[in-house]
Amino acid sequence: VSAAAKSEKADNFRLDDDLTIRRLGFGAMRLAAGALNGSPRDPNEGRAVLRRAIELGVNHIDTADFYRSGDGSVRANDLIRDALHPYPPNFVIATKVGPIFGPDGPEQAAAGDIRRLVEDNLRSLGVDRLDLVYLRIGMMKVPHGESLAERFEVLAAMQNEGLIRHLGISNVDVGHLAEARKIAPVAAVQNNFHIANREETHVLDVCTEAGIGFAPYFPLGGGRDDIEDDALSRVAKQRGATVAQIALAWLLALSPVTLAIPGTGSAAHLEENVAAGTITLTPDELKDLS
Ligand SMILES: NC(=O)c1ccc[n+]([C@@H]2O[C@H](COP(=O)([O-])OP(=O)(O)OC[C@H]3O[C@@H](n4cnc5c(N)ncnc54)[C@H](OP(=O)(O)O)[C@@H]3O)[C@@H](O)[C@H]2O)c1
Repeated sequence: VSAAAKSEKADNFRLDDDLTIRRLGFGAMRLAAGALNGSPRDPNEGRAVLRRAIELGVNHIDTADFYRSGDGSVRANDLIRDALHPYPPNFVIATKVGPIFGPDGPEQAAAGDIRRLVEDNLRSLGVDRLDLVYLRIGMMKVPHGESLAERFEVLAAMQNEGLIRHLGISNVDVGHLAEARKIAPVAAVQNNFHIANREETHVLDVCTEAGIGFAPYFPLGGGRDDIEDDALSRVAKQRGATVAQIALAWLLALSPVTLAIPGTGSAAHLEENVAAGTITLTPDELKDLS
């Protein structure tokens, strides 16, 4: 195997032995607003960031129909559709359903809401079939002991109807993962995980063993100030890289199933984050970061 072929293999991940995506992807939550439901960002800039991501080779975008500014004027799915539809070949849009944002703040969707929420994504993204849909459960914390079966069965039925290609789950423990896998194959898991928060390592281990994608949310800790520490700064300095880049390179080095979906509304941060995909950390650097 040539060096180039080897590196291409390490860069890529196959979702459930089907769709091939680059492991360094893009999170769309920060496009519409700097924070979920925050003040609107410039939609022209958001569309430019998306187009640049594609130029840089990103082919996995993580979004949700509820990624919007607080005033509802800018929405991530609209930006994606406006900037990128018709979507390029070999391009995967992952979305998620679960939270419903009502006047009293977020609530969890009931099984009876799930179909409508998926249909909202089909419509807003302008597709007949969604590539990957995560069921997102719980609020901020993983809801240990809560069954996801009824809600996940709705997604599995929609997959059987041809409306969804692959299923994922988000904010889950190993019990949820086992419960979901009894219902339908799970192609990817999305949990809160980053270099300064490794609590979900046991879920990652199950994913690695089963070849399930693990796409952490908050790969940069939700903002680089939350991850910065001495070791990260030291390695970044040695490599002439930024702290954000080393945090992403660390994530990709952990397991062949980790997928990075850093979120940004800034073209400069996008360039920086995508470049992290070319950084291979040495065993000594990984030890320093451990
Ligand atoms: N399943 C879930 O429950 C869930 C929850 C949260 C997020 N998500 C998904 O996960 C993706 C990633 O999470 P996230 O966006 O919340 O957090 P993140 O990627 O950990 O961090 C994003 C934050 O870091 C900043 N940033 C990005 N690149 C940077 C860089 N190179 N240098 C310095 N700062 C940088 C961004 O600001 P700028 O925009 O100004 O660059 C933004 O404030 C989201 O976009 C979303 O798709 C899923």
